[in-house]
Amino acid sequence: MTSVTTAPDIFARILDPANRPDPYPLYSQLTGEPVHRLGPHEWLVTGFDEIGGLLRDPRMSVQDPAIEPDPDGPRGSDGKPFRAGFLSLDPPHHDTLRGQVAGEFGRRIMGLQPRIDALVTELVDRIAADGVREVDVVERLAYPLPVGVICELLGVPRSEEPVFHSFAERLTRGLDPDDTLSETEIADLAVTRAQWRAYLMPMIAERAANPGDDLVSALLVGGDPDTRMNALELGVTLGLLLIAGHETTVNLVANGTLALLRNPLALTAFRAHPETAPALVEEVLRYDPPVQMTRRFATAPVRVAGVDVSTGDRLALLLAAGNRDPRHFAEPDSFAPGRPDPAHLAFSGGLHYCLGAALARMEAQAMLTAIAGRLVCPRLVADPPYRTNMTLRGPSSLRVAFDEVQPAAHAT
Ligand code: HEM
Repeated sequence: MTSVTTAPDIFARILDPANRPDPYPLYSQLTGEPVHRLGPHEWLVTGFDEIGGLLRDPRMSVQDPAIEPDPDGPRGSDGKPFRAGFLSLDPPHHDTLRGQVAGEFGRRIMGLQPRIDALVTELVDRIAADGVREVDVVERLAYPLPVGVICELLGVPRSEEPVFHSFAERLTRGLDPDDTLSETEIADLAVTRAQWRAYLMPMIAERAANPGDDLVSALLVGGDPDTRMNALELGVTLGLLLIAGHETTVNLVANGTLALLRNPLALTAFRAHPETAPALVEEVLRYDPPVQMTRRFATAPVRVAGVDVSTGDRLALLLAAGNRDPRHFAEPDSFAPGRPDPAHLAFSGGLHYCLGAALARMEAQAMLTAIAGRLVCPRLVADPPYRTNMTLRGPSSLRVAFDEVQPAAHAT
């Protein structure tokens, strides 16, 4: 085995909420080497190629071997104890559940662009109607968009959006590693998950009885009856779609707005060429990704960049550091939309590659185009505060001042 640097101190500082506003100088202390030791059986991976390789490696599991499934607990459609949404499951159960959602989800989002554009226009129009010259972009624009879109997909009436919004906020903490949660937070999460299932079950029963043209109905009555999700799996999967697609998208819009306001040349260029929205969003995803880190567990010995990882070892994959790996990206700390090497790790890779990547891109492109095009002379009022979450990192509010709001039709 080659020598390997140890990094528990830097990692502790990365986890420290005090460093949430700008963890990137800490990451740059780690990108000289691709793999670092955190403890006897724990590793931190920061290299772009190494993270990409591990995400595609079948010897890597998303299931923590320390968490035993409850043999007396509820069971999935495969008859085995059911432990989590498919983000936290390995094949074959992961593939069965994801396969059912992927086709239906993909088909439905293809037709969503006009709805997303209409929602974005409506949200910016409301700011114009208020006559204000300063807004919290997180509260008024970034937060309402993904909830509105997911309710649309699930066929949930708009009157239910506040309930979805509240569940999304409370369930999201469950995406952070268990060892970063307090006992109270773990207990609160269990209560919230039970409340979520109790809230959904009547809706699921109603759709089973009267299927409509929505994703929930399609999952209930479509596909192969032998492998179809049971009600519990469906409830958990809908929760996954809600939380995986909510705060992530909020953060992408907020991080994109912040990057544009801190890089006036990029903002001017984008205003002049709104058709470059796809390249802009890819660079935001690389430069300041909404999901900073994920974890894997080795199910067999693996050698990574000359370092021997043993069976059962935990690996923290720092996606955001990989996105700034100087061995992969030229000038990794510059915000440079349209860079020649745009591929990034923000949506992970391999089996768990983000199911909602296309939807997130559509939402962020539409919203950032509206923010840059319709808010005249937008400027940052203050550096934003951040939520404490490490895995899903983003500003808790983002105050932006502007001179006026242009009507949608006249936006450049
Ligand atoms: C900017 C927005 C988003 C980002 C940065 C993001 C990022 C990610 C990442 C990093 C993963 C994989 C984690 C891992 O490998 O451990 C993932 C998985 C997933 N994402 Fe997203 N996501 C976003 C938006 C969405 C949206 C809008 C949806 C759906 C409404 C969604 C649904 C999912 C699902 C279902 C998975 C699990 C995939 C699997 O395990 O097979 N995501 N996402």
